[in-house]
Amino acid sequence: MGTHSRARVALRAVRLLALSLAALVPTVLSSLLLATVKGRPAGVRHAWRQLTLLLELLGPAFVKAGQVVATRRDLLPPVACDQLSTLQESSSPMSGAQARRALEAAFGARAHELFEQVEYAAVASGSVACVYRARLASGAEVALKLRRPGIETSMALDLRLIRAGSRVIAGLPPFRGIPVTAVVEHACAAVFGQLDFDREAESLSLLRDNLATVPRVWVPKVDRDLSTRSCIVMEFIDGLELDAAQRCSAANRRKFAASALTAIYHMLFVDGFVHCDMHPGNLYFTESGHVVVLDAGFSVQLTDRLRRLFADFFLNMALGEGIRCAEIVVESAEEAGPGADIDGFIVQMADLVDRNHRVPAKDFSLMRFATEMFDLQRGHGVHAAPELIFPLLSLLVIEGTIRDLDPDVDFQEVARPMLMQGKFGQR
Ligand SMILES: Nc1ncnc2c1ncn2[C@@H]1O[C@H](COP(=O)(O)OP(=O)(O)O)[C@@H](O)[C@H]1O
Ligand SMILES: [Mg+2]
Repeated sequence: MGTHSRARVALRAVRLLALSLAALVPTVLSSLLLATVKGRPAGVRHAWRQLTLLLELLGPAFVKAGQVVATRRDLLPPVACDQLSTLQESSSPMSGAQARRALEAAFGARAHELFEQVEYAAVASGSVACVYRARLASGAEVALKLRRPGIETSMALDLRLIRAGSRVIAGLPPFRGIPVTAVVEHACAAVFGQLDFDREAESLSLLRDNLATVPRVWVPKVDRDLSTRSCIVMEFIDGLELDAAQRCSAANRRKFAASALTAIYHMLFVDGFVHCDMHPGNLYFTESGHVVVLDAGFSVQLTDRLRRLFADFFLNMALGEGIRCAEIVVESAEEAGPGADIDGFIVQMADLVDRNHRVPAKDFSLMRFATEMFDLQRGHGVHAAPELIFPLLSLLVIEGTIRDLDPDVDFQEVARPMLMQGKFGQR
């Protein structure tokens, strides 16, 4: 690291520290006050709310990391996840001149030959990239996901500081009992992954191939030859609107629910390559009846062993075989801590599966099931391998969307064919 960048790191660290202290001192005081007056839960909720606001103040790397942290319901208390999941990115699109410069940075002098026309009013704008509509010299309409110049360096710097900071705060009293470094490490790795457009282009292509047989599901085709490390060139998909499903008939909405669920089960049980970020904005339903999956920037490759283990878990859950489910969790766990109560966990886990096995499909809530299971794990000191939990977390991300589309959907019934294919079929 040269002196210039060392000075830059120090300057940024001081600025972040100053902002954090200025926000945290009043937060601690007001949370304590609230806890005294209205009780501990109110104080804790307030503290997480304030922390969420602070992350927005600190910038996009913090917001993105916070969004990933919000999905870790296996390790964090629900109140933390609920507050952090409200994190919003706010970034204005690049100006026309900035976009032109970014395009030239991505393609060099070729930019003018490659594209016959580029609409410099962004289709969408995020903190890492903006998406533009363009036409190739061949006449094909494409979407350009163009990375903001300099974002890789500035976010990488913040991520490094987040990692360093997390090692410090992990030892502070309010964070005892929360595996801060593990959660932050996972989140930073996920955000780093979103800066790597080579990998994202590859992931999107893989997803498209994997889901080719799932009816009505559409992943844009990436032009691997044209894409560069700072611009993904892909087929442009018309008619992406957040509220399109609301204008569709109930019958079509049920089809959307089944297709989206089938897509994620296919990823989980058959392919083992999982898009972990299927929130609205990355998952669209079109009036022409398609389920469009975008943005594979946050994807995970499961090992074959864990893919099978997860499928086995799901299958046994559907069969009401609670003891087997509990054993799978224990089998996957890296090592049980000294205070782990494995027998107690197995008894209660079996009871949880049994109770859920009896409820009618439409009343089954994956979120409720998972929350209770995570509580049991924490309470009994049984920590499943994160790789076993991630697939479950990715399902939790879309459960709400699926239920809005089809309140009667049977999560376990839809899974059956993919479970069979994953367990016994040819891959
Ligand atoms: N291939 C595409 N065709 C049309 N619109 C697209 C395409 N890819 C992305 N978009 C639009 O751009 C938005 C952001 O793209 P996304 O890949 O999710 O970027 P980010 O990483 O910033 O979330 C999407 O929600 C969608 O509206
Ligand atoms: Mg997105």
